Amino acid sequence: MTPPGEVLLSEEQLQQRVQELGAEICRDYQGKEPLLVGILKGAAVFLVDLMRAVDLPLSIDFMAVSSYGAATESSGVVRILKDLETPIQGRDVILVEDIVDSGLTIAYVLDMLRRRGPASLKVCALLVKEKAANAGLTTDYVGFTIPDKFVVGYGLDQNERYRNLPYLGLFAS
Ligand code: IMP
Ligand code: MG
Repeated sequence: MTPPGEVLLSEEQLQQRVQELGAEICRDYQGKEPLLVGILKGAAVFLVDLMRAVDLPLSIDFMAVSSYGAATESSGVVRILKDLETPIQGRDVILVEDIVDSGLTIAYVLDMLRRRGPASLKVCALLVKEKAANAGLTTDYVGFTIPDKFVVGYGLDQNERYRNLPYLGLFAS
């Protein structure tokens, strides 16, 4: 497939960092059995790599929300398209997100999950854009902080394309 633009993070860089995040989670959750909650579809690629880097008993579940539709700017509207199958009361939940941009999606989902009474609730985001980092949005585990540009690959799409790229590319529009 034709690369969409400049390579921002190579496959090796992504894989290396995912292993490190998995090891961190493994240390922090010793003796526990976390539930990894991935937000579809973007986080799917990251979650399946991350879960294999965590050497603990764990389970996974997915939610689907809509925020952008086909646009590349946040619409300000978050809608639940698919809810969890797992009750999370008393569980140690790690919300796994592909990218925190405005932070709107994560804030909404966190608020919703918190009201279900998990024992703990943390966020693991592969990517955080600089503006979100600067806005002081707290993310417990962060893979990389990246510039405020539109990126694709490793699960992230532009109008549903490029999710299958093994690296992260800048989308040159
Ligand atoms: P937020 O609500 O603005 O934080 O946006 C989060 C969601 O928007 C992510 O889960 C992605 O699906 C999408 N998104 C944000 N920035 C990008 C990008 O650069 N490339 C692809 N998708 C993005
Ligand atoms: Mg998307």
